[in-house]
Amino acid sequence: MSAPNNSYDPVEVNALHPDEVARMRQEALDAIARASSLEELKEVRIAHAGDRSPLALANREIGALPPAARADAGRRVGGARREISEALKARQAQLEDERDARVLVEEAVDVTLPYDRIPHGSRHPLTTIGERMADIFVGMGFEIAEGPEVEAEWYNFDALNFLPDHPARTMQDTFFVAGPNGGESGMVLRTHTSPVQVRAMLDRELPVYVVVPGRTFRTDELDATHSPVFHQLEGLVVDEGITLAHLRGAIQVFVEQMFGEGLRTRMRPSYFPFTEPSAEVDMECFVCRGASVGNPDAPCRTCSSEGWIEIGGCGVVNPRVLVAAGVDTERYSGWAFGLGIERTLMFARGVKDMHDMVEGDVRFTAAFGMEM
Ligand code: DAH
Repeated sequence: MSAPNNSYDPVEVNALHPDEVARMRQEALDAIARASSLEELKEVRIAHAGDRSPLALANREIGALPPAARADAGRRVGGARREISEALKARQAQLEDERDARVLVEEAVDVTLPYDRIPHGSRHPLTTIGERMADIFVGMGFEIAEGPEVEAEWYNFDALNFLPDHPARTMQDTFFVAGPNGGESGMVLRTHTSPVQVRAMLDRELPVYVVVPGRTFRTDELDATHSPVFHQLEGLVVDEGITLAHLRGAIQVFVEQMFGEGLRTRMRPSYFPFTEPSAEVDMECFVCRGASVGNPDAPCRTCSSEGWIEIGGCGVVNPRVLVAAGVDTERYSGWAFGLGIERTLMFARGVKDMHDMVEGDVRFTAAFGMEM
């Protein structure tokens, strides 16, 4: 700052000359108008309104003027600085508006675009419904048992009391595994999960409470209701004092947990070589609960208006099977059951065609999600 100037001559303080103040003001207003971004405007603010801007420096010189000239110079410099500050504010608001409008366009998110270009698969409904079925038995204290898919004929047939000439052994039903020179190997692709009954009894300490979910094979052509590869859930109990009543109870608990409380079950006499007596198990239709029977006005597609749905086979384990597995038949008895998992998926979820289950179209699988 210059020393006080008593011989009044404003022209001597160059920076405060009216033309000079007007020039600095105009320069600042031009620069503000030219600033085309908020960053540029920031620099303009420092250069023309900051502590070291020409007008700020000129302002400091006012004190150096004789008192009579200070008011006039102060008005001119102050007026210029206020105008510049207002122009800065207006330009700032304008540039912010422009930026906001631009961001709305440039950073817009199209929420209708697919969020995931590589869709995740889903677990197959046969897997999830098989697990759900097995889980209900696990809840009753059963363990999960497994066995090989390529199985010895002895486990698949002989130990289960299929005599050598039993029709199920013939080439029509069974995939035989060829031996070394195309001869016999004594191995088959298991035609049911029942051989795991024998394995469980041989491998485990008694008593045995197991369920066996697994893949099974038969020489069927693929059609709407058959597949050469399918799945079963086998159950086996061997303990002291076991009766058919326990089997009735376990099936009843399974049906009520899987399909709904209060649904009735029934058994119809049947035949399997490995059980005696044997039965087919039916459950009351969980859709119509029998209301469609003899009522053509309200037909039921789930049970074909029969009121009952067949869910599988069962029976008291034939003592011959217990003997083949080394179980003391004086002390122990047991029962077994076999449920078809494809069949269960068909009536439980309304799947009409076996092709849908085996073709691997992700649209079929995804529709079931992960929930079942
Ligand atoms: N293994 C039989 C089949 O594949 C199903 C079956 C019936 C299993 C009765 C059982 C049973 O354990 O007791 O047709």
